Amino acid sequence: MEQDCFRSRCWTTDPRPRYWWHRLPGMDYVPPIYSGLTEEEWQIVRDWFDETDESKRIGECVVPMMSFLHGFIMGNRADCIVQLGTCSGYSMLLIGFMLRRMGARHGLFTLDCDPEMCAISRRWLDRARLDDFVRIEEMNSTAPNAPPAAAQFLGGAPNLVVVDSSHEYAATLTELDLWYPVLAPGGIIFLHDTSCFAQDFDVTHAGGVHRAFVEWRESHPDVEAILLNGESRTMEGTRPLYKDACGLGILHKPAMPDPAS
Ligand SMILES: C[S@@+](CC[C@H](N)C(=O)[O-])C[C@H]1O[C@@H](n2cnc3c(N)ncnc32)[C@H](O)[C@@H]1O
Repeated sequence: MEQDCFRSRCWTTDPRPRYWWHRLPGMDYVPPIYSGLTEEEWQIVRDWFDETDESKRIGECVVPMMSFLHGFIMGNRADCIVQLGTCSGYSMLLIGFMLRRMGARHGLFTLDCDPEMCAISRRWLDRARLDDFVRIEEMNSTAPNAPPAAAQFLGGAPNLVVVDSSHEYAATLTELDLWYPVLAPGGIIFLHDTSCFAQDFDVTHAGGVHRAFVEWRESHPDVEAILLNGESRTMEGTRPLYKDACGLGILHKPAMPDPAS
């Protein structure tokens, strides 16, 4: 029987760790983050995977989190986005394609402190012709001049901030203290790697994004917060619903009071 290899279905039987989502029971369909792309966009994503498989520059967020972002951005026209941690450009490309579909120019400001990552992701940005929609800056996510630089490119306050950077406890607290105040009312912060399992990613061994998220939430009781798979301690097995063992933290800044109420 001929194997169905439409888009990401080619990874359904791929044993490499990066493709774990596609091997989960029942996940032999193409998720909307890929099925919604044009042929040309998909070819760029495919080539990006081939190149980063070869170079072993693998650090992108995964299908469950990207799908969350996709639904959120496109379902609500989130068009003032900041991403802390660009890496080699996976979510930069996919968010850029979403912004282009929505006609939202200057919609994503993404930064990375590693010049090599900025060079790689800028090459993909050029190939995808997304420069009207995305700016990549070589910057530290904790630098006080980063929020004004983002606001200048976006033309205002971000309404969505995606934190996927150092995974260090202290740096994550600094990021939250720096970026939450500049978030637009009603805005959202998504933090990747908020689980107990992902605490190992903290090279300072201080408790990672998980500890930072839990402590910051406790000290800001006015902020709506949810932690998905915070309790995950292993990659093994499958999780009942949200599939990413690395977890996802969500912070929602209350909107201004409705003048009618
Ligand atoms: C997990 S990767 C980001 C993946 C990306 N969000 C994606 O989905 O494609 C983390 C990146 O954050 C960068 N990084 C780490 N600490 C940082 C900091 N303090 N400021 C800016 N970038 C940082 C690293 O260089 C690395 O490229």
